[in-house]
Amino acid sequence: MDKIAVLTSGGDAPGMNAAIYGLVKEANSHGIQISGFLEGYKGLINNHSQVLDLSMVKKYLNRGGTLLGSSRTENMKNNDVQKNIVKNLIDSNIDALVVIGGDGSFQGAHALSLHGFPVIAIPATIDNDIPATELSIGFRTALHNVVNTVDIIMDSANSHQHIYGIEVMGRRAMDIAIWAGLALDAEGIINSRDITIEEIINKLDESKSLGHRSQLFFIAEGIMSCFEFQEWVENNSDYKIHPLVLGHIQRGGTPIYDDRILGMAMGKYALELLIRGIDDVNLAVEQQHIIYRNLSDTISYDKTNVYPLNLNKENYFDSL
Ligand code: ADP
Ligand code: F6P
Ligand code: MG
Repeated sequence: MDKIAVLTSGGDAPGMNAAIYGLVKEANSHGIQISGFLEGYKGLINNHSQVLDLSMVKKYLNRGGTLLGSSRTENMKNNDVQKNIVKNLIDSNIDALVVIGGDGSFQGAHALSLHGFPVIAIPATIDNDIPATELSIGFRTALHNVVNTVDIIMDSANSHQHIYGIEVMGRRAMDIAIWAGLALDAEGIINSRDITIEEIINKLDESKSLGHRSQLFFIAEGIMSCFEFQEWVENNSDYKIHPLVLGHIQRGGTPIYDDRILGMAMGKYALELLIRGIDDVNLAVEQQHIIYRNLSDTISYDKTNVYPLNLNKENYFDSL
């Protein structure tokens, strides 16, 4: 194995750069060259790459985002486009590809494997919505960003006795809403359409009666917007809601130490597996170990009840 390529795809996640660094560092020690495709699958489609230098990549270890750039492109789903990518990779003497991204990017990685090209996928998305891994790179930094930002908002909320409905990212997964809600002991986590207006009003009444000066609801973006939440509560009670979309502040910023270590370890492990001839797999975290699974299995799972720290859904509500 002489030459391996890497790309980052989908929503950027803090720690993606650490994964690139872990891969390049390990490759360097084996005399293997790493090329980075720029702008995610767009760069792969346009055959746009550059050789990655170890010392250049190390400078990004403490930086959020991705030094390679990222993108979303529907063209990647096209069979002829995929065939052409594989042809370009072979013509460029690239022996294998490492894809760093989320569940969508994993689908693209598996598609290339089905065309016969060796691919390994590394889970990196703030959504933490990849089936078969308890953790993805970037999730814990995003959570850290949410908790720190809402701490600031709570100073104002407590001064004015405000109620906040904060919409957080996570696509169809509810992990950011759930874990931020737990960390801040929120009055409510809207992670299901089953929650009733009576339950919400009861939570507000109870919190007020306990003397709390502010109330906080986390709303998972896949369930409803914070504006829908505001309308719902205000149409059914005298409570006033401050809606807030937290937005991309969740996704950027310095990766916390856990995401740097996870990123570097996964980058290194991907290289080790490729040297051992193992591909068409994704890396995953299971009970604090980094393991690998077949990509075909991973993409056929639906993400249900896979949570870090071994808390099940019932525990969440018991603890609120
Ligand atoms: P993430 O990887 O963070 O989940 P997306 O869901 O946006 O982000 O997916 C990133 C990219 O992966 C898409 O823009 C597309 O190029 C590629 N992709 C997604 N689904 C497929 C698929 N079924 N087949 C091939 N490529 C896909
Ligand atoms: O997948 C990561 C993510 O940040 C989701 O949480 C969110 O739904 C989406 O990407 C936002 O995408 P964009 O950056 O294109 O607005
Ligand atoms: Mg995704």
